[in-house]
Amino acid sequence: MNHAAPTPLSSRKSQGLKGRITVPGDKSMSHRSLMFGAIARGKTRISGLLEAEDVVNTAKAMAALGAKVEKQPDGTWHVEGVGIGGLASPKGELDFGNSGTGVRLAMGLMASTPLTARCVGDASLSKRPMGRVTTPLSQFGTRFETAEGNRLPLTIHGAGDAKPITYTLPMASAQVKSAVLLAGINTRGTTTVIEPVATRDHTERMLKAFGAKLEVKDVGGARHISVEGGHELTAQDIAIPGDPSSAAFPMVAALITPGSDIVIENIMLNPTRTGLITTLQDMGGDITIENRRLAGGEEVGDLHVKASRLKGVRVPPERAPSMIDEYPILAVAASFAVGTTRMEGLEELRVKESDRLAAVEAGLQLNGVLTQSGKDWLEVNGGGAPGGGKVVTHMDHRIAMSFLVMGLASRIFTRIDDSAFIATSFPGFVELLNRLGAKIGAEGA
Ligand code: S3P
Repeated sequence: MNHAAPTPLSSRKSQGLKGRITVPGDKSMSHRSLMFGAIARGKTRISGLLEAEDVVNTAKAMAALGAKVEKQPDGTWHVEGVGIGGLASPKGELDFGNSGTGVRLAMGLMASTPLTARCVGDASLSKRPMGRVTTPLSQFGTRFETAEGNRLPLTIHGAGDAKPITYTLPMASAQVKSAVLLAGINTRGTTTVIEPVATRDHTERMLKAFGAKLEVKDVGGARHISVEGGHELTAQDIAIPGDPSSAAFPMVAALITPGSDIVIENIMLNPTRTGLITTLQDMGGDITIENRRLAGGEEVGDLHVKASRLKGVRVPPERAPSMIDEYPILAVAASFAVGTTRMEGLEELRVKESDRLAAVEAGLQLNGVLTQSGKDWLEVNGGGAPGGGKVVTHMDHRIAMSFLVMGLASRIFTRIDDSAFIATSFPGFVELLNRLGAKIGAEGA
């Protein structure tokens, strides 16, 4: 998509938000269902796929590598896989747009198949580190030509005779874990990833469902994940529940906007993803999980959220992996709490779609919120956000959505310089919030 013309938006003090909504499908599961479907045998049927730019780019990449990917008239997506080792060199370059998950997992998927592909992304993705993936994948025998500093654009030459590896993750990253495991799927022998701190486990759960020979052991508190390569995967029917990282925005909007009472239906509650709910409940947030059930191997439930008087808390570093994408919106919630909120263990925020620690802090300060920060921590003084600032979103969807939510409860309004990137993860965000009673509109409206 062409993001040449920025689309500023503003949001204003709103009355209580009311209603029942659903949010789009989980992004992590959406990328994975397309990718695993592409290397499985048979036809994978996906319902609830997130039809946002990041995922559409993954769908196009899988088609360019040889899988047949089609949206059906009933809204489901079908992926006809090529079998392990069946991916072929694409004709053109693979454009992953804004998505780190898309490019890093696809690199793993391609790493142990003898193909050549050039991977590109937008200006934000082209600044993000790829060495965290090229380093372990090179140990399989994969070769890379990268731009300066191990960045995109890069060309991958998959290994024809890949050797299995054992790799200890140097940072808490589900993307790196997944890239190594996916390379292991088409590598004879056993590939093991050692994960000192647990990160989202969708790759493990979903690969198992596709029939991979995958084992997870707890060794002295670390997770050892082993996959025996060289075995075919079998196509699956997958129903993707709502994305908890998207639900986070209406959830905080309802908590901070007086008089709100909303239900967000069918949200995935995988324990590696629920850190924000825990934190907001610690802060005194009135969030009840209703209708808890199992669907497609994941726990799901409906989130009933009412406006609440929040108090500042300390968010411990060990919780970071289970809410890594949620710190921007947590910082907004914290600015309306009584007292100070301290968040620790934030080093990975520096390498997201933007330097999120810096972007969030700048946005808070512009809107009159007092903050302190260090290399990997942030403190937010509560008491309410005066508002009035125009936030620079740095091509980052979560910065954009967070500050639009802030405006709903700030004293004046908030503005963002560009809303276009919201489409990378949450199409229909503005309309959905406005349907609940939010006042988000064109700048100055
Ligand atoms: C994701 C992993 C996380 C997260 C991203 C999605 C995934 O990234 O921030 O939005 O689907 O594996 P890291 O692996 O860089 O922590």
